Amino acid sequence: MRSASNGMEDLSLIKKSFFDEVSKAGNAMELEKVRVAYIGRNGRLTAILRGLGEMSLEERRRVGPVVQALRKEMEDALSLAADSSPLVVGHSVDLTAPGKKFNRGHLHPLTLAEKKIREIYQSMNFSVVDGQEIESDYFNFETLNFPPNHPAREMQDTFWIKQKNAEKLDSKHRLLLRTQVTATQTHYLMSHTPPFQIVYPGRTFRNESVDAGHEFNFYQAEVMVVGKNITLANLKFTLEEFFSRFFSPKKIEFRYRPSYFPFVEPGFEVDIKLNGKWFEVLGAGMVHPRVFEYAGYNPYDWQGFAFGMGLDRLTMIKYNIPDVRLFYSGDLRFIKQF
Ligand code: PHE
Repeated sequence: MRSASNGMEDLSLIKKSFFDEVSKAGNAMELEKVRVAYIGRNGRLTAILRGLGEMSLEERRRVGPVVQALRKEMEDALSLAADSSPLVVGHSVDLTAPGKKFNRGHLHPLTLAEKKIREIYQSMNFSVVDGQEIESDYFNFETLNFPPNHPAREMQDTFWIKQKNAEKLDSKHRLLLRTQVTATQTHYLMSHTPPFQIVYPGRTFRNESVDAGHEFNFYQAEVMVVGKNITLANLKFTLEEFFSRFFSPKKIEFRYRPSYFPFVEPGFEVDIKLNGKWFEVLGAGMVHPRVFEYAGYNPYDWQGFAFGMGLDRLTMIKYNIPDVRLFYSGDLRFIKQF
């Protein structure tokens, strides 16, 4: 049996001659010979590795890691040398082999849909506006003509932020996760002078139980146009122009149904017909005079319209996606299809 000290001596000799040979090797074929001679199946270092089994436990503990480290060092030296040595055609390169496929990153379908929406409205001369996800009762409800205790508040199950003495706070200080991007309206009205036309996509939250059609977190995109002499005809044109472009080249039909939202009058829900099926896709209407008043405008001087759509829903219709939860599942098999 080989003694431990001998084993270590052998190692330093092996190491020295290995590096001599590597430095002399002139091409990939010669490097391969060195590899076989030292760490190939019957290589010199491989023989020592095999011999470890015959050593006492104590010796093995001492020698084993040194041998393993040397093996790693040799592999690294070989691959480094291979990178810079000329290749021998026919030995290690198959010029006909198919190329390596790279995994490329790409955008989430909801991001793609949002980009498309921005693109379409920017081409119609709209400004894209950002709102905030944490809002006050004041902007999410009160200035949109949802008075305190108004039953319309029940339509949107709200995630309230935990606050000390919440019940004593006034609506400007009572915080929530916005239930609708409509909360951006009053902010913008208060800080700008019409005429303007804006689109504000963003994330919204509702305390709903989750199923194939509902998520507690989802995206909306809303449009508001304010000026003098804005009419329902302008609303209809803007809305239909957008949808035709979003689903182009598919042809779609529209259906307007009267509906109630506290911040518009009159209000509608709009359905679109695509591939022979009707989908309920948005709420719309003329800006309510109370909303103008809250923002400090004289409602006799200004008119406007607004419509809001669910981004998740539009994306589901566009790509034929059956379940809204897929957007948030992080399942790569789903995401990679886009
Ligand atoms: N904010 C409404 C909702 O979330 C949609 C809507 C927007 C309705 C603008 C009318 C005008 O359901």
